[in-house]
Amino acid sequence: MKTANVLMVCLGNICRSPLAEGILKSKSNGLNIMVDSAGTGAYHVGNLPDARSILVAKQHGIDITDQRARKLEASDLDAFDFIYAMDESNYRNILMLAKNEAQKRKVSMIMNEVVEGSDISVPDPYYGGDQGFENVYQMLDSACDAILAKIKQ
Ligand code: 4NP
Repeated sequence: MKTANVLMVCLGNICRSPLAEGILKSKSNGLNIMVDSAGTGAYHVGNLPDARSILVAKQHGIDITDQRARKLEASDLDAFDFIYAMDESNYRNILMLAKNEAQKRKVSMIMNEVVEGSDISVPDPYYGGDQGFENVYQMLDSACDAILAKIKQ
């Protein structure tokens, strides 16, 4: 059976990457996939996901209330096989921790799994309304389908 360790990364680890973690976990039943998430910033370490992320996940049948925010660590670039950045800023900050080319190759923009080379960012919904969270959910749902198809190959 294929095994893969996947890390979802955003800034605060309370809005986008917890949703990405929850969605990928919900789709990976029966597969040997470990999914985690982290933030490049430490502002919300130890916190639950944002209430709006919890709500939009719940509306789609996913419970993400077991998650707590943590900060990305350099050791994550060894521990994970695929490291997905939600936006270009996250991408640059993850790469700053990379010690070698092998680590750099693990890192990509998550929406590039849907549209290769597009470098589309998942917009930060933190300062917006609830619709931003549904939009993030839909983007991440399509990205997670593509990630699973890749891992299953
Ligand atoms: P996230 O969203 O990176 O998707 O978790 C944010 C959460 C918090 C902040 C920014 C973005 N903040 O500035 O506190």
